[in-house]
Amino acid sequence: MLKKTLLALSVALAVTSAANAGPGMLPEDVLDGLIKKSNSTYLTQSPQNLMMMPDNPAWEVAEAGEKLFKQARGPKNASLEQCDFGKGPGVLEGAHAELPRYFADSGKVMDLDTRLVHCMKTLQGFTSDDPAIKQKHGSKSDMMKLQTYIASKSSGYAWNPPMNHPLEKAMRDAGEVMFYRRSGTMDFSCATCHTQTGKRIRASVLPSIYDASDWTKAISWPSHRTSHEEVRSSQHRVLECLWQMRYPNIKIGSDASIAMISFWTDAARGQPAIVPDLKR
Ligand code: HEC
Repeated sequence: MLKKTLLALSVALAVTSAANAGPGMLPEDVLDGLIKKSNSTYLTQSPQNLMMMPDNPAWEVAEAGEKLFKQARGPKNASLEQCDFGKGPGVLEGAHAELPRYFADSGKVMDLDTRLVHCMKTLQGFTSDDPAIKQKHGSKSDMMKLQTYIASKSSGYAWNPPMNHPLEKAMRDAGEVMFYRRSGTMDFSCATCHTQTGKRIRASVLPSIYDASDWTKAISWPSHRTSHEEVRSSQHRVLECLWQMRYPNIKIGSDASIAMISFWTDAARGQPAIVPDLKR
């Protein structure tokens, strides 16, 4: 259902935008467009994954998310349809491509996870201890269903996180420091593994932050991970890469996690989002 709407939209857009990515374009078509331009080893590392894109299991998760989004839930018996993700209450089209951003109502820079939690608390009356909020990972969690639905409305939109508020810039800059700073028992930085094109760890080709068309796929989450058989979030990716660096677990929704996501989204500015994506 969701996919059909997107398909109709992208067919309509295809007339005007030809092979270029455009708002609402299906993830596999956005990716095809990038591969036509760059044909990089990162983008093309798994022909099997490319073939699976049209039947990405993440679409089922997004559909479940749409139902949850529109359903009156929680102690306040309200839906999420009045949630403002930055482009006005209820506007989802392109909203995820402009996160993280500053929200005056909370005085904070928020990413998809924190903004969703904010709305589930303020509009629906859930608390941090409710499983709807507490359960962060796995395709069966409300969090992943809702995030996948919301993000899917940004497929083909160019990443464009605003940098007008001083806190938006401060968070991006803090993320940059975190990305390049070597630390931990292995003395790794994110840059150790993500600044050279075509570098690999075993079978995995690593995306470089300096290669914009690789990097947009790298930061396109939620994504179904075939090795996990689960849809994963941006927050999960931050957690996992820090875990690979032998860091203690980062707190989901912490300012540090949002700073990291602000920096990596800014690095993909102007490139089209591939959501939901499918990764190794
Ligand atoms: C020791 C090397 C290493 C370090 C250091 C590292 N990563 Fe990664 N990163 C990987 C590998 C390997 C993958 C590919 C997915 C996998 O196989 O787990 C990956 C995947 C990613 C992805 C998604 C791309 C994909 O194809 O899955 C992003 C975004 C990312 N890392 C960001 C970061 C950030 C931010 C840091 C620092 C906090 C970091 N990485 C530190 C090795 C590393």
